[in-house]
Amino acid sequence: MLRRSFILCFLSVTTLSVLCLGIDDGQGWKKVKGLKGAMYVELTDNRACVKLMTSSGPQGCEAPNEELVTAPLVHRKDLWIPYKGKRVVVVPAAEVSTLLSLLLSDSELHSRVAGVLVDPTAGRPAHYSTAAKFPSAEYALYDNRSYPWNPFGAGFNRQFFGFPMYMLTSSMANEAARRASYNADNEFKGGRHVARFEVPMSAKGNSVQCITEQTCLPVGSYGVWTALPALPDPSYNTTSPRPITLLVAQMDSNALFHELSRGAGTSVSGLISALVALTLLATANDTASYSRQLAFVALPGEAFDYMGSKRLLYEMNLNSTFVQGLRLDLIDQVVEVGQIGAAWNPATNTSTFYLHTQKGDKYGNTTALVEAATAAAAAPSTNTSSNSSEPSRIRVQQASPDTPGIPPSSLMAFLRVKSSLSGLLVADFDTAFKNPYYQSEFDDGTNTIGAMLEVCVCAAAIVDASLLLARTLHSLAIGNTAASTNITTSNTTLFTDRALAINLVYCLMTQSPGLQCPLASELMTPDIMLFSDGSLSAAVGAYPGVLGWLAAANPKDPYLKPNLPRFLFNYLGLITAVPPSNTSNTSSWDGALCDPGVNRCPLPYACIGWRYGSKDPAGMGRCRNTTTSFVPAYSTRLSYGKVGQWWRWSVSSASASWEAAYQWPPDPLWAESNWPEKTPKLTIFQEEADTTQVITLVVGLLLTATTAAVSWTGVKMFERHLKIH
Ligand SMILES: *[C@@H]1O[C@H](CO)[C@@H](O)[C@H](O)[C@H]1NC(C)=O
Ligand SMILES: *[C@@H]1O[C@H](CO)[C@@H](O)[C@H](O)[C@H]1NC(C)=O
Ligand SMILES: *[C@@H]1O[C@H](CO)[C@@H](O)[C@H](O)[C@H]1NC(C)=O
Ligand SMILES: *[C@@H]1O[C@H](CO)[C@@H](O)[C@H](O)[C@H]1NC(C)=O
Ligand SMILES: *[C@@H]1O[C@H](CO)[C@@H](O)[C@H](O)[C@H]1NC(C)=O
Ligand SMILES: *[C@@H]1O[C@H](CO)[C@@H](O)[C@H](O)[C@H]1NC(C)=O
Ligand SMILES: *[C@@H]1O[C@H](CO)[C@@H](O)[C@H](O)[C@H]1NC(C)=O
Ligand SMILES: *[C@@H]1O[C@H](CO)[C@@H](O)[C@H](O)[C@H]1NC(C)=O
Ligand SMILES: *[C@@H]1O[C@H](CO)[C@@H](O)[C@H](O)[C@H]1NC(C)=O
Ligand SMILES: *[C@@H]1O[C@H](CO)[C@@H](O)[C@H](O)[C@H]1NC(C)=O
Ligand SMILES: *[C@@H]1O[C@H](CO)[C@@H](O)[C@H](O)[C@H]1NC(C)=O
Ligand SMILES: *[C@@H]1O[C@H](CO)[C@@H](O)[C@H](O)[C@H]1NC(C)=O
Repeated sequence: MLRRSFILCFLSVTTLSVLCLGIDDGQGWKKVKGLKGAMYVELTDNRACVKLMTSSGPQGCEAPNEELVTAPLVHRKDLWIPYKGKRVVVVPAAEVSTLLSLLLSDSELHSRVAGVLVDPTAGRPAHYSTAAKFPSAEYALYDNRSYPWNPFGAGFNRQFFGFPMYMLTSSMANEAARRASYNADNEFKGGRHVARFEVPMSAKGNSVQCITEQTCLPVGSYGVWTALPALPDPSYNTTSPRPITLLVAQMDSNALFHELSRGAGTSVSGLISALVALTLLATANDTASYSRQLAFVALPGEAFDYMGSKRLLYEMNLNSTFVQGLRLDLIDQVVEVGQIGAAWNPATNTSTFYLHTQKGDKYGNTTALVEAATAAAAAPSTNTSSNSSEPSRIRVQQASPDTPGIPPSSLMAFLRVKSSLSGLLVADFDTAFKNPYYQSEFDDGTNTIGAMLEVCVCAAAIVDASLLLARTLHSLAIGNTAASTNITTSNTTLFTDRALAINLVYCLMTQSPGLQCPLASELMTPDIMLFSDGSLSAAVGAYPGVLGWLAAANPKDPYLKPNLPRFLFNYLGLITAVPPSNTSNTSSWDGALCDPGVNRCPLPYACIGWRYGSKDPAGMGRCRNTTTSFVPAYSTRLSYGKVGQWWRWSVSSASASWEAAYQWPPDPLWAESNWPEKTPKLTIFQEEADTTQVITLVVGLLLTATTAAVSWTGVKMFERHLKIH
């Protein structure tokens, strides 16, 4: 009897709970419950907007107070549907600029937004730049700081949003859109679909504070510079120095979602044309007749208030080992290649480049540079013995006098520190940028720069810029504008220039193969990124990244350098190296097998082409006589060294008098916040409905109480049973 009532009691409790938990609240929770595993969608790849710090405060995104942020999904078009709490807005990429501008200006709306998810599946915006309309205007050499060089600039690269943001993958975007519609259809009642962000950012206050507290690392990377021909004696104590003509190219960019930036039109197209130009000059094999010294530098971090050029100029001031031989007192001509991807006009089969120079008596005379570029453009495209009559398709024009001065460029930094030098910026625009995606995630070379990857169309602009640069530099170095004609687009020993340009586009601008392209694979082994879906990528990212430490010892050591500087180092080392001499001198290091660890080459040799190992000749590099060196880029307010027993970054005032002497704006000291491992992370799932949650709680409590009662009864019964027997 007792036993029967015990069993009955247990059964009824179980049935009740199953019934209650199984009640379909009409919001789909029951269905979801069974599929729980499949319905949680996670994103752990580096597609989040993260928090950067400057000396004046934060920039970017975070989950406030390092907490989890969970809120229902709503499509941007359904924001009007009333809901009392915060929501996560799913916004098509084309509308992201409008939405973010609205959020920055409307604090009421901002207070109701828990996060933003960008959906890239419905096409890209017609134009979108995260830089300001006048990027880093305070670095200009003139007073008009409101001139709209970058007409599409939204200025988000200097804003703090305070909520988390993600750029979704296409599959995640479809999922988020579906779930947001579900929420809207049900007016946010019942089992809502939510996004949960884990975007905890450790850095607090400003970058001075977080560097001191070690909760952030400096934004920074390595640039690469070289000389053509190789400097005979970088200390100039056996040879007399020659004046230097320096070619400058930027090598990276910025975006709200850092890891997704490619910098195709912003920096990489100009960088590629500089590499091709140097290759043309090296293979022309005429450097013996140069009366000037040519040098080249690829600068990282220029999107971060000219961090790369400022650091380079400061290192030159210190005569540091990174820039040995590259003396500022010798540099009297600077030619910068800026944005050039939009120069090609398919309607006329010509590329038009604009020559920008800084007006004013204070600044160096640029006539020689402009004349060299003009003659270079006019020279016929080919110069074979049989036919030299093919007209040039390159056009150059002096930029309009209606602008306040030179556009945002590294040249601004050079002229600030040495105003007497002659500076020229070569670009595809006249009075305002043509690139609609300057410093943004959409600047990947596949859109308006005219299908860059469709082999001919805009690679044409890169090829034409290369020839223009090579000829300009060649005639400047020789000191005769007629020398232009000796640099031709006919065969080089490596590739034709066109094939080389396209090879470099594949290596530096594509997601795949990226730096696993044949050209790079012969020179280096890139670090590979592994994504959560199992895919691998050696794509070149255009965010400089952070400097965890500073490799100070040897400026020619490729060890632990990021992919892009390592590729540039090896490529430039290869093309600018002095050809091995034939002396059959076995004690010479020239051409000796090397690696960055065991078999190091002594200076001035650099180990070029090392891929793996220290024994297998196939993977080892060769010691080559080249000036090519790495040069770091990081804030001039930082120093890396031993503090107590630890090597770390610290804030220093060592550069203060140098900065004051050239009236640099206060250094922003860009740094990136630390965050815990396994974050940032985004999860999308369906919450249990409020009513279901209450029922679950009540049933849970009931179940616990009843189970306790039943067990107690059972125990009593058992005891009694014992007593009976
Ligand atoms: C700056 O340049 C713009 C465009 O040319 C012009 O409209 C504006 O008046 C200038 N501002 C100053 C302060 O000169
Ligand atoms: C490296 O090349 C330069 C320039 O040709 C030359 O002057 C120098 O002697 C070479 N150095 C060595 C160690 O061979
Ligand atoms: C030449 O330069 C080297 C540094 O490379 C230096 O150690 C040496 O003292 C210099 N020699 C003279 C004569 O100045
Ligand atoms: C470069 O020119 C020199 C003469 O100036 C010649 O001896 C050498 O063979 C040339 N090298 C190549 C690769 O053509
Ligand atoms: C660097 O070298 C230049 C020229 O050789 C010299 O004038 C200057 O004093 C040096 N600076 C330092 C910090 O050594
Ligand atoms: C441009 O080049 C293309 C392909 O070579 C040719 O078909 C077209 O007629 C050219 N257009 C002009 C205006 O020369
Ligand atoms: C600039 O240099 C050229 C020669 O290269 C000369 O003719 C011209 O007068 C110079 N301009 C000024 C302003 O000095
Ligand atoms: C020289 O080039 C012109 C224009 O490209 C072409 O029409 C002509 O046939 C060429 N002549 C020879 C001999 O190749
Ligand atoms: C072009 O190169 C040839 C052969 O190297 C040389 O003779 C000629 O002087 C050069 N032309 C100019 C203008 O430098
Ligand atoms: C280019 O043409 C000029 C003049 O016709 C000639 O002197 C020079 O040798 C040519 N250069 C090459 C590389 O063919
Ligand atoms: C380029 O090289 C190939 C093979 O070496 C040759 O057949 C062709 O004529 C060359 N083209 C020019 C423009 O020199
Ligand atoms: C250089 O060495 C190669 C073989 O290694 C030989 O064929 C060539 O004649 C040598 N050249 C000189 C200038 O000694």
